[in-house]
Amino acid sequence: MAVEQRPGLEPAGDERTMTMLRERAFAAMERAYAPYSGFRVGAALLSADGSVAEGCNVENASFPAGICAERSAVAAAVARGNQRFEAVVIATEAEEPTPPCGMCRQVLEEFSPHLLVVSTTRDGREARWTLDELLPRAFTTSSLHRR
Ligand code: THU
Repeated sequence: MAVEQRPGLEPAGDERTMTMLRERAFAAMERAYAPYSGFRVGAALLSADGSVAEGCNVENASFPAGICAERSAVAAAVARGNQRFEAVVIATEAEEPTPPCGMCRQVLEEFSPHLLVVSTTRDGREARWTLDELLPRAFTTSSLHRR
């Protein structure tokens, strides 16, 4: 999905940045393709250089072929040359903020183990975690070398 350069962006966690990421995540959620679950998800991923990559869930008639919003945002960012991330904001229509699924945690871990993960709802409920909290004792590239 679209990635936009935002020079001069303030650090992740900053209120103005968070507001912008929330808006981008909800806009991406509106573009989700989720006819099977009806559960639309948007993600806005902030890179270390201040650029933002958006993602949404894209489902498929062959259910396992679908992809989550967070992983599609990672793919968009990496395709643009970004591999260091500071924060991801997740937007859904659920009543309570929803954490990212296990597969998305693993994919985010590959690039940014200390990532700030923020989940938001339409009426402004919000949950914040670090990826270390969500995925303790992760399997990483260094695990591969312990053979
Ligand atoms: N989904 C995401 O996009 N992100 C998550 O972290 C959890 C689940 C999507 C996958 C599927 O399209 C729908 O939500 C229902 O599971």
